Amino acid sequence: MIDKLNEAFGVPGKLQFKTGQGDLPKAVITTPFSTAEAYLHGGHVTHFQRTGQKPVLWMSEEAVFRPDKAIRGGVPVCWPWFGPHPTDSSKPQHGFARVSKWEVKGSREMEDGSVRLDLGLEDSEESRGLWPHPFQLGLSVTVGEALELSLIFKNVGDEAVEVGAALHSYFAVSEIDNILIKGLEGGDYIDTVGGARDVKKQEGPIHFSEEVDRIYTDTEGVCVIEDPVWGRNIVVSKSGSRSTVVWNPWMDKAETMGDFPDNGYESMLCIEATNAAADVRRVEPGGMHVLGQRIEEAAG
Ligand code: BG6
Repeated sequence: MIDKLNEAFGVPGKLQFKTGQGDLPKAVITTPFSTAEAYLHGGHVTHFQRTGQKPVLWMSEEAVFRPDKAIRGGVPVCWPWFGPHPTDSSKPQHGFARVSKWEVKGSREMEDGSVRLDLGLEDSEESRGLWPHPFQLGLSVTVGEALELSLIFKNVGDEAVEVGAALHSYFAVSEIDNILIKGLEGGDYIDTVGGARDVKKQEGPIHFSEEVDRIYTDTEGVCVIEDPVWGRNIVVSKSGSRSTVVWNPWMDKAETMGDFPDNGYESMLCIEATNAAADVRRVEPGGMHVLGQRIEEAAG
């Protein structure tokens, strides 16, 4: 399978398919600016790093690479719902895209030296058991000076559907106590810690001293992760999204997650480009919706 993928989609010196952890196939991308990796399992980007710099994405040392399990870290693709299923809690949290096997649809080197990989996922008997709609989903991953992700949903059925989604990016940070997130000041958020749904207002930048699990509503803005110890800012922008989720499980929740080190919360945070809460999207037959996220590292 790896040989066939390389024959059809390899780009010499830039994009190669290899057997990754858990024997799952992955794409390894090398550009003059950066390196990245993406697994076909989940359409999951697990690595992005500027040349000579530290990794931008956080990966759990205890991540499980198995077809029935979502990879902990990197950028899980949550789709076609975000969080628990709206009416049936027996269905998997965050939908099924992150535990589905995606296909490679295309690859190419761009004029500016970046490399693009296109993945696709379509409905199957299994998906229709969880979500009874035909669909075409694409994920384009462009690796260059920035990491750019576009999740493209086409409604190929004959009924309008509502979709929730997230590009659930995990970011690596020096030490959570040092970190500020700017860009959401003054905005409203739904505080979902412990299953509550209280609406609160963000006063000043975000800093972390306890579990944070928030859906910022009505925001299309750019977030900046300021990391003074590592001397870098991570700039996270998005499109097709009016909600942003910020998550850090903190100590107690970290201990309950089997694939997450007990102290893992000290070195990560998530900023997710979402279609969550009132920002789920209704897509008419023949229509499409594109959710995008751009991740860029800048000197701090
Ligand atoms: C976040 C949610 O997006 O994902 C959190 O807001 C959740 O509530 C977290 O705990 C991780 O979810 P999971 O299913 O990957 O453990």
